Amino acid sequence: MGYRVVVAGATGNVGREMLNILAERQFPVDEIAALASRKSLGTEVSFGDRTLKTKDLDTFDFEGWDIALFAIGSEATKTYAPRAANAGCVVIDNSSLYRYDPQIPLIVPEVNPDAVEHYRNKMIIANPNCSTAQMVVALKPLHDRARIKRVVVATYQSVSGAGKEGMDELWDQTKAVYNPTSDVPPKKFQKQIAFNVIPQIDVFMEDGSTKEEWKMVAETKKILDPAVRVTATCVRVPVFVGHSEAINIEFDEFLDEDEARDILRESPGVMVIDKREPGGYVTPIECVGDYATFISRIRQDSTVENGISLWCVSDNLRKGAALNAVQIAELLGNRMLKKG
Ligand SMILES: NC(=O)c1ccc[n+]([C@@H]2O[C@H](COP(=O)([O-])OP(=O)(O)OC[C@H]3O[C@@H](n4cnc5c(N)ncnc54)[C@H](OP(=O)(O)O)[C@@H]3O)[C@@H](O)[C@H]2O)c1
Repeated sequence: MGYRVVVAGATGNVGREMLNILAERQFPVDEIAALASRKSLGTEVSFGDRTLKTKDLDTFDFEGWDIALFAIGSEATKTYAPRAANAGCVVIDNSSLYRYDPQIPLIVPEVNPDAVEHYRNKMIIANPNCSTAQMVVALKPLHDRARIKRVVVATYQSVSGAGKEGMDELWDQTKAVYNPTSDVPPKKFQKQIAFNVIPQIDVFMEDGSTKEEWKMVAETKKILDPAVRVTATCVRVPVFVGHSEAINIEFDEFLDEDEARDILRESPGVMVIDKREPGGYVTPIECVGDYATFISRIRQDSTVENGISLWCVSDNLRKGAALNAVQIAELLGNRMLKKG
C-alpha cells in the first residue's frame, strides 16, 4: 500500500524534478496528481514511464490525499497550502512562506530529521532555500566534530534558482549577444545576466544585505544551530543549473584538513572530490542531475586559529529543492505516516 501524492507546480523547474525524483527513488505512490495553474491545464509532464496531464490547482480537492509537494511560489502557497493542510494532506513546501514560522519544521534530512515530528503542528513542513540546503549538508558533520563558531560564504547561484523565466532570460540574452538585432533587456534579473555576474538575489534589507543572504543566516540557525554565526554574499552567475559556494568556517576546536576530508567522505549526502591538481574539483556543470553535495578544495585557513575553507557544489533543483522535498516525504513515510 502506497501514498496518494500531489505535486503542485508540476510544470515548473522544481515540480518537474519532483516528479522525476519520486519516480527515480521509487517512492511508494498509489496515485499521483500533477497540478499547475489553469493556463497549464492538460499540459503533459513525465512521471517515470508515464505521462501525466496537469490539473488545475484552484479546483483540486485535497480530501483523501496524503502528501502534497508544493513548488508554486509564496503568493500562491498562501492560498493553497492551508487548503491542503485543512483537508488532512501534509504539505511539503518549497517556498519561503513558512520557513521562519517556529511552529513549522524546516528540514534537511541529513541534518535535523527529528524535526519531522512537529509536522502535526500545522500539517506543513518547509523545505529550505537552495543555497542553505547544500551548505548545511556540508557543515553538519564538521560542526558535530569541532563546533562551528562562524561561517563566511560567497555563493555563485545559477539562473534556474529564479525559475523557468530566469533560464529563458539567460538563454535569450546569450543568443542576443551573438545576434545583436534582438534586444533582451533584464526582466527577471536586475542587470544583464549573460556574460555577467550580479551581486543581488532577492530584495535589499535595511542593513544592506539581501533577503537571500538573510535567508542563509536565518535558515542555518534554524536547521543546524542558533549559535552558528553566518555572513553571506549571494551572487547570481550565468550558469543554468548548479549552485556553487566558497565557504570559510571558523571552529571552536582545531580541525585538521585531512580529518575534515575524512569526516566529509563518510557523511550522508556528501561526495568529496578533492585532488590538488588542475581540474581535481567539481564544477556546477558536473553536478547536474546528481543527488550529492560535492565538496572540493578542502584546506586549512591559517589566517584564523581554527579555520577551514572549502568549495561546495550541488544541483539546486535537486538537493536545493526537489530531492530534499522527496527525502522529507520519505522521512514522513518511514517515521510518521507508515503504510502497508
Ligand atoms: N529553483 C530553485 O532552485 C528553487 C530552490 C528552492 C526553492 N524553490 C522554490 O520553489 C518554487 C517553484 O520554483 P520554480 O523554480 O519551479 O519556479 P517555476 O519554474 O517558475 O515554476 C512555477 C510553478 O508554479 C506554478 N504556479 C505559479 N503560480 C501558480 C498559481 N497561482 N496556481 C497554480 N500554480 C501556480 C506554475 O504553473 P504554470 O506553469 O501553470 O504557471 C509552475 O508550475 C518557488 O517557491 C521557489 O522559490 C526553487
